[in-house]
Amino acid sequence: MSDSWDDYADGWDTNSDVINYSEKAFDSLCEFIDLEGLRVLDFGCGTGLLTEKIAHVASSVVAVDASAKMIEALRRKNIHNVDSLACEISKDSINNHAIFEPRFDLIVASSVCAFVPDYENTLSTLKLLLKEGGTFIQWDWKRSNEEEDFGFTNEIITNTYANVGLCAVRVCEAFSLTSKSGTMQVLMGIAKNT
Ligand SMILES: C[S@@+](CC[C@H](N)C(=O)[O-])C[C@H]1O[C@@H](n2cnc3c(N)ncnc32)[C@H](O)[C@@H]1O
Repeated sequence: MSDSWDDYADGWDTNSDVINYSEKAFDSLCEFIDLEGLRVLDFGCGTGLLTEKIAHVASSVVAVDASAKMIEALRRKNIHNVDSLACEISKDSINNHAIFEPRFDLIVASSVCAFVPDYENTLSTLKLLLKEGGTFIQWDWKRSNEEEDFGFTNEIITNTYANVGLCAVRVCEAFSLTSKSGTMQVLMGIAKNT
């Protein structure tokens, strides 16, 4: 497996596992929140599979990803109410880009948080981008007993919300995905910036 997300950009939109993940994430998102009229940040948007679905209903989406190639693929889709930026979110970068103003009603992170170098620090930065009362929603692979360094547990997510001052609404198994390597559960974490 490559260390660079750029290397996955070309095949991302035709990968059936990735397509399935984004469809199931979108369904679980819509079960929880009405997207109409919302200003949304899609953190770690990749090529925008989830971004595009959200943009059909929400007022606007800002899509951010550290991979320039992923963002190039998203831009080729020309989605009228999506602004995008290739950037790693940090306390400095959010102050240097006008795209992050005004703050967001909803931030989504689909299969991203378990890949960032410092989950707690990333969440504390994302919290700064949420309006008061805004919602943060993430999906990540559930950690299995065999692979203790991959994915998250319910406890890791809940404790990290508490550490950064987000109010946990729910952490649950949202869906599972079956591929050649077996069946894996996906955790959905939902928190409010109260
Ligand atoms: C598994 S992919 C998920 C992409 C997309 N959310 C989807 O569901 O198709 C993880 C993505 O997170 C992005 N990423 C990883 N660390 C990041 C960071 N610190 N800031 C922004 N994006 C990051 C990667 O570039 C990659 O596109």
